[in-house]
Amino acid sequence: MNYPSDWPEPVVRVQSLSETGDTVIPDRYIKPPLERPSPSFNTGSSDNLNIPLIDLHLSDHPTIQKATMDEISVACREWGFFQVVNHGISPELVDGVREIWREFFHQPMEMKQDYANAPTTYEGYGSRLGIQKGAILDWSDYFFLHYLPSNLKDHNKWPSQPPFLRDMVEEYSKEIVRLGKILLKVFSINLGLEEDYLQKAFGDDDIGACLRVNFYPKCPQPDLTLGLSSHSDPGGMTFLLPDENVTGLQVRKGGEWITVKPARHAMVVNIGDQIQILTNAIYKSVEHRVIVNPDKERVSLAYFFNPKCDVLIAPASELVTSKTPALYQSMTYDEYRRFIRTKGIQGKSQVESLKFPK
Ligand code: OGA
Ligand code: NI
Repeated sequence: MNYPSDWPEPVVRVQSLSETGDTVIPDRYIKPPLERPSPSFNTGSSDNLNIPLIDLHLSDHPTIQKATMDEISVACREWGFFQVVNHGISPELVDGVREIWREFFHQPMEMKQDYANAPTTYEGYGSRLGIQKGAILDWSDYFFLHYLPSNLKDHNKWPSQPPFLRDMVEEYSKEIVRLGKILLKVFSINLGLEEDYLQKAFGDDDIGACLRVNFYPKCPQPDLTLGLSSHSDPGGMTFLLPDENVTGLQVRKGGEWITVKPARHAMVVNIGDQIQILTNAIYKSVEHRVIVNPDKERVSLAYFFNPKCDVLIAPASELVTSKTPALYQSMTYDEYRRFIRTKGIQGKSQVESLKFPK
């Protein structure tokens, strides 16, 4: 199946809506009552909870120490979400890349429209994910680009302005890929697999790495909508660089939504659906969403590590036993992604649908 070459209806930039100064949001952005960010969630006991914070010590050691590996193991099993500091990516680069993207979104609309995306590849400037006509939309715009595999990388599709954006994204991407390889190795060892198991399962040098920069404009009615609907990330693993000054990311833990309080220069790491499948659900991809703010915009960079599009992803045979039989059917990432790209993001319904019937 090919994706349609255009959106089902004219694209409206959320940033333009926000800038009109209207005090009500269009109906298209109003979520059903049960999906809205209920204010009571933010005042309960979960307020003091946060996802685990792990010091990788990579600024002073070249490799990850045993005690740190153990902390990562617990975080992967119990949370599927954690933040890392001393990850080896310089604070200047972390702040610089976020702020240059903020500048990108603050440029005149005509400059951004040059990069307007289509559902064929999603690369470029976008304002929605699914292609269902009349769908309820999220309160955000984004920019999506490919870094790996190298044959998908095309600098002409990256913004040419502000100056140095391309250079900075290159530098940041190189660092993220380095850190990604380290963590895939740590996960493999922690699972009792060969250290290069996950890297190889993802297609080795053909692993995918792509960036979605999210821009959440101010929203006059933040209680009625979401910046990003509840979802789990479809790929392997995500590195999220959050806005340091504005919270918004919430992670589901049991029946509650926990607001991530970012540590300074931290990177948020989370498990995606493909690692849930590969590990036969020893590690789980966790639902998360983004709430928006009445007087502050928010910028975040989500770097996705994905399997090569045509390799079959199935539970590792080493992790399948008579007591823990394979939970999922195998599928390529390409087939998997199609579901999300046609229907939009819908909680964890896709990974659940891959389960063998009981
Ligand atoms: C995503 C995502 C969270 C955020 O892009 O998949 O979950 O804080 N982003 O922007
Ligand atoms: Ni996500």
